[in-house]
Amino acid sequence: MDINKKMQDAFNAQIKEELYASHLYLQMAFWFSKEGWNGFAGWMGKQSHEEKEHAMDMAKFLVDRGGEVLLTDIPSVQTSWDSPLDVFKDAMAHEQHVSAQIEKLADVADEVQDRAAANFCAKYVDEQVEEEKTMRDILNLFKHAGGAGFALIDHIIGESRK
Ligand code: FEO
Repeated sequence: MDINKKMQDAFNAQIKEELYASHLYLQMAFWFSKEGWNGFAGWMGKQSHEEKEHAMDMAKFLVDRGGEVLLTDIPSVQTSWDSPLDVFKDAMAHEQHVSAQIEKLADVADEVQDRAAANFCAKYVDEQVEEEKTMRDILNLFKHAGGAGFALIDHIIGESRK
């Protein structure tokens, strides 16, 4: 069964969200590099890559279902932050936004009774729990370490994702 048009539109909107997240995290990685936070830069660069993989995975699903991938402009992203903590606060807020969008995607799958799409979305509902947990863990490190501990966190985060 070819994918329903409403479902296709919802997937294309989510692909745009994932590519936006990839751009945002890449910009964060470059900001970290500029400021000399190399551990955070490496970690955020990999996060950017992961978001692009999410977009590619969704695009493949759409094509596999006889749908059409329609890429559109990606809005420009914020380019500077006051501190590493502010970057991760924004990243957490963005993940919570993406979680809400994934739930809307899953709602469309239910509405149009597309079981394959619903199964596909379930994987990303779970993925978002992990992504939010990862960001929350990092924010807790900042909370416990205080300003003087940022350099140590930069090292730990860089080592955690080689
Ligand atoms: Fe693909 Fe972090 O949302």
